[in-house]
Amino acid sequence: MKKIPIILAVLFFCSTLFLVYAFVFRGRVVKSDDHRIAIQLSKENKDFALKEMRSFLVSVQQINEGIIYKDADAIYKAAKESGGKAVNHAPKGIMASLPIEFKKLGFSVHDQFDIIADSILKYKNFNTTHRQLNTMLKSCIVCHNTFKFVDESKNSN
Ligand code: HEC
Repeated sequence: MKKIPIILAVLFFCSTLFLVYAFVFRGRVVKSDDHRIAIQLSKENKDFALKEMRSFLVSVQQINEGIIYKDADAIYKAAKESGGKAVNHAPKGIMASLPIEFKKLGFSVHDQFDIIADSILKYKNFNTTHRQLNTMLKSCIVCHNTFKFVDESKNSN
């Protein structure tokens, strides 16, 4: 008789572990025919993520222009636009769809934008900004080579 509560406790423990694995680590991913990992997102979340990507590109261009014209304010503003504060606007549920490696890379890029902003404010060294931008672009490339987005209604892509 005492076995039933133990079995229930074990089942509860295992399902909690599974949920943590599914929502924090694995995300909603499927295989893709171009060897990238396809992340399944709702249309709303996919639109959000792609919009954020387009604003990353805008920030990159503006930072680059700031380097050319030695405009520290423009660099600061453009970098802050894509820094950590942008994460707060993420829609509910999107985090559960994203695998842990994607989240790590994404947070790292937001951090790198903040580092660019703080560094130009403090040191006004445009060569440093140029190098930081170059390093950050490598993170963009790593993620694009590893992941893609697909509609959650599709099973593979
Ligand atoms: C954590 C992963 C990740 C990082 C980091 C990342 N991207 Fe992306 N980006 C993606 C994915 C996934 C897509 C969708 C590609 C696909 O489905 O083929 C994408 C798409 C894009 C697009 C196309 C947007 C559209 O409307 O179709 C642009 C532009 C872009 N990224 C720019 C950047 C830039 C610039 C950086 C670096 C500052 C960056 N991304 C960093 C994952 C990332």
